[in-house]
Amino acid sequence: MGPALAVILACSSPSEQEFSGPELIGRLGCLACHGLGGSAAAGGFYLDGIGSRLSRPALKESLTHPRRRRPGVKMPSYAYVRPGELEELVGYLERLK
Ligand code: HEC
Repeated sequence: MGPALAVILACSSPSEQEFSGPELIGRLGCLACHGLGGSAAAGGFYLDGIGSRLSRPALKESLTHPRRRRPGVKMPSYAYVRPGELEELVGYLERLK
């Protein structure tokens, strides 16, 4: 499924869960800067194993307030992501062990 189609589906039926961790990672552009599962990381920052390194609260804060944890980090804030999607994304990252 292409990102555009995924967005259309997500918008047309907000009550149903049409998103998944990998789909969110693709849609939110994480792989522009991070590597995952064999895809190269532009800056050398791999998300593989992140669930072993960071707790769930730390993962969530990394997404909503990246500079609170790492001053000056060139990562956008994802505080705008809908709560359900954010929970799914954090859960997915948590399972990357
Ligand atoms: C514009 C580039 C960019 C984008 C887009 C980006 N990140 Fe990052 N992210 C970074 C950089 C740079 C770091 C710091 C890495 C380091 O210093 O090891 C980072 C760190 C992280 C960390 C670790 C924070 C910590 O305290 O160790 C997580 C988790 C993370 N990113 C997840 C994501 C996810 C998930 C997405 C997509 C929703 C995303 N990032 C999008 C650049 C980006």
